[in-house]
Amino acid sequence: MDFKQYITVVEDFPKEGIRFKDITTLMENGEIYKKAIDDMANFAKEKDVDVIVGPEARGFVVGCPISYALGIGFVPVRKAGKLPREVLEVDYGLEYGKDSLNIHKDAIKPGQNVLITDDLLATGGTIEATIKMVETLGGKVVGIAFMIELGYLDGRDKLKNYDVFSLVTY
Ligand code: PRP
Repeated sequence: MDFKQYITVVEDFPKEGIRFKDITTLMENGEIYKKAIDDMANFAKEKDVDVIVGPEARGFVVGCPISYALGIGFVPVRKAGKLPREVLEVDYGLEYGKDSLNIHKDAIKPGQNVLITDDLLATGGTIEATIKMVETLGGKVVGIAFMIELGYLDGRDKLKNYDVFSLVTY
């Protein structure tokens, strides 16, 4: 399946020089969205995953349906100030910006097998911070699944010790 034909590349968004990969056009097509999620869920099926973790906001649009497909829980990673209970906070750098991410401290139980998922691997900063949170809470990252990988940004270099799957690579 050539998923790329359903992803729209938008020049100079959100700022000059960035070629934004817009997955909303893929999501608008129910059949293709389902196929994409099923392929990502198949990667997870082989891994004895206990729980899925995904960063907001686009990480939710891949992570939640995978979680539903597998019948396992989903844990949100959110930007600072959004989660209501006690959180673990980690700073991270983005392809365009800098922020900090939060996860509920009790969301991952020590020893749980965790699949991390997101729509996009760019510099890897978001996922690196997410891994740090999961591991700090005692979870084991058994796989990381992306809808899109930007190979030219070398984000995968940060993920050498993990089993990484991406549906499409640019
Ligand atoms: C985007 C994307 C990934 C991250 C990838 O999210 O959804 O989470 O950037 O970049 P990185 O590999 O360089 O860290 P963004 O922070 O723009 O938030 P959004 O999903 O809420 O739009």
